[in-house]
Amino acid sequence: MKHIFFLLFLLAIYSAQAQIRPLNLIPQPVEVKLGNGSFNLTKAATVVFNKTESRYIADALVQRLKTATGFMLKSSLGAKGSILLKLNTVPDQQLGNEGYTLVSTPKGITITANQNSGLFYGIQTLIQLLPKEIESKVVVNMKWPIPAVSVKDYPRFAWRGLMLDVSRHFFVKQDVMKFIDEMASLKFNVFHWHLTDDEGWRIQINSLPKLTEIGAWRVQRYGHFGDRDHPKAGEPATDGGFYTQADIREVVNYAAERNITIVPEIDVPGHSMAAIASYPELSCKKDTTTRVSPGSNFVDWYGNNTFRANIENALNPSDENVYAFLDKVFTEVAALFPGQYIHVGGDECYKGYWAEDEGCKALMQKLGIRHVEDLQGYFMNRVEGILKSKGKKLIGWDEILDGGISPEATVMSWRGIKGGIEAAKLGHDVVMTPTTFAYLDYVQGERTIDPPIYASLRLKKCYSYEPIPDGVDPKYILGGQGNLWTEQIPTLRYAQYMLFPRAWALSEVYWSPKENKKWDDFILRVENKFDRSDLAGVNYSKAIYDPIIKTSLQDGKLLLTMETEAPGMEIYYTIDDAMPDNFTSMYTQPVVLPEGPITLRVITYRTGKPLGHLITLKREELDKRAGKK
Ligand code: ACM
Repeated sequence: MKHIFFLLFLLAIYSAQAQIRPLNLIPQPVEVKLGNGSFNLTKAATVVFNKTESRYIADALVQRLKTATGFMLKSSLGAKGSILLKLNTVPDQQLGNEGYTLVSTPKGITITANQNSGLFYGIQTLIQLLPKEIESKVVVNMKWPIPAVSVKDYPRFAWRGLMLDVSRHFFVKQDVMKFIDEMASLKFNVFHWHLTDDEGWRIQINSLPKLTEIGAWRVQRYGHFGDRDHPKAGEPATDGGFYTQADIREVVNYAAERNITIVPEIDVPGHSMAAIASYPELSCKKDTTTRVSPGSNFVDWYGNNTFRANIENALNPSDENVYAFLDKVFTEVAALFPGQYIHVGGDECYKGYWAEDEGCKALMQKLGIRHVEDLQGYFMNRVEGILKSKGKKLIGWDEILDGGISPEATVMSWRGIKGGIEAAKLGHDVVMTPTTFAYLDYVQGERTIDPPIYASLRLKKCYSYEPIPDGVDPKYILGGQGNLWTEQIPTLRYAQYMLFPRAWALSEVYWSPKENKKWDDFILRVENKFDRSDLAGVNYSKAIYDPIIKTSLQDGKLLLTMETEAPGMEIYYTIDDAMPDNFTSMYTQPVVLPEGPITLRVITYRTGKPLGHLITLKREELDKRAGKK
C-alpha cells in the first residue's frame, strides 16, 4: 500500500513537471512565479485594452501573433478579454515607467503597467512565453499554450542601449528597422545611431546639401578595412547612401512605438573626413582634394591612445564658420529627433594640424591655453552651447572630459571604465560601454575562424559585466550599451551574427537585477534562443560550441588547455594529421604537447553530433599563444 502511494506521489510530481516548460526569458525578469496549467491561445481569443492610448499596442500584438498562428484576433477597448492590457489609474511605484506585471492563468492573461512602455515590455515577455514556433514567418498549425505564471518586472537601468555605426557600412532604413525590432524584443530602449564618420555622412542636412551629395559617397573598395587603397584622382564615388529627413522621421516614429529613443551621433571634431570632403574650408589645411575615406589606412597608432592622422579629419576649432556650420547641422538634427540627447562624439581627435595652424595658435594665446589638446575643451563647450540653444543635452565619448566640460554633459565611458569613474566623481551622468565588455565588433570566437578584428570579447565576459564600478555612486550611472562598429560588417545578416548572442547577454546586464544573473542558467536560455532565432531567420554566432584553445609554457613544453562556453560538450582532437571526430582523443585534462611540427585539430560534439567548427592550429600558432617566440 505504502509503495502504491509513493508511486502515485512520483507520478503526480512527474505530471506537474511535464507541464512546465523552462521559461527561457531573456532578459530575466525581476520575479517569476510558476502557476498551474496553461492558457491555450486560439482564434477566439480577444485582445482588450482599458485606455484608448494603448490601442496601437494591442493592434501591434494582434499583428505579431497573426504571422505564426494565422489568428486574426479582435482587439477592442474594454475591461475584460483573454489578453487584457491594463494601464493603472493609480501608478504602482515599484513598476516605474517601464515595469509591468504579467499574470497568466488557464483563463487568460493580464498585463498591467503604469505606462504604455510597460505594456509593451509585458508583451515582449508574453511572446517569449509562447512556444518557439511563434517566431515562424509562416503559419504553423499547432496548439499555442502560454504557461500559467505571475511575472513582476522592471529594469535595473534607465539607459539600455545599442549603438549601430552606419558610416562605415550604410544600412538601409529597412535594415535599421529590423535592428530596432531586435532591440525592442530584448527591452533595449536607446538606439545610438552613429550617423557620421570619416567613411560617410549619412543624414540629410537641407541647409548643407554637400554633406550628402559628396559626404555620403566613397569609392568602391573590397577587402579588410584599413588595407584598402586610397581613392584615386578622378575616381567616381559610387558606394554609400544616406537617410533623407523623411526616412529619419519614419525611423524615429518606428522606434518610438517600440519604446526606443534614438540618440543621433554627429561625431566632431575628429572623425570628420566626410564633412571635410564636402566642405574642405572647415578644416585647417582646407585641402580640396580630401575624399571620403573608403576604409584606407590614414592613422598611425602608437599605442596608449596616441596616434597620428596622416590625412586631416578634424574640424578647425579656431574658425567661427565651423560653429556656424555646426549650428546649422544641430538645428536640423534637433528638430528631427525628439529625445533630449544629441551625441557629439569627441573621440580620437588628432590635433597635429591644429598645432600648426596660425588661427589655432592665436586662439590658444587668446584663451591662455598652453596645450593644443585643451583646445578640444573649448570646442566641446562651444558645441554644448549650440545644443543648449536648441534645448538639447550633450553626450559624448569619454574624451570630452579632456580639457573640461560642464557638469551637465553626459559621458559615455568606452576606453575601459576609468572615464566613467572619473566622470561620475566629477558629478557627470555616465553611460557605460567599455571596450572590454561591450564592444560587439570584437571577435567572439576562435580568432582563426572568425574574420579578424584586433581584439576579442567572449559571450561569458559580456555576461559577467557589472556596470556600476566599485566606489562610484550608482546614481550617476544611467546604464550602459553595446556598440557595433561596422568596419568589417557588410550586411545586416552579419551584423546579427556579431550582435547575438552577446547583445542577449547585455540586455540582461542592463535590465535584470544583479542577483538574478546566473551564467549556468543564461547559457541554457541562449541555446533555446538559437532555436527561436532559426525560426525567425535571425543570424547569430555559435562560438559557444567551439573550444577555447589556450597554450602555456611548462618546463619549456607547451601545455594545451581547452574548454567550451556551452555545457555538456565533448572536445576531440588530433595531433597526428588525422581528421578529428568522436573516435579520436577526447580532451579531459591539460595535455603536454610533443615537440616537432605538429598541427592541432579540434572538433566538439554533444550527444554524438558535431556542433563546433573544425579548428586547425599549426605549431607556430600554438607557440604564439603560449607567448613563445
Ligand atoms: C570609439 O570607439 N572610438 C568611441
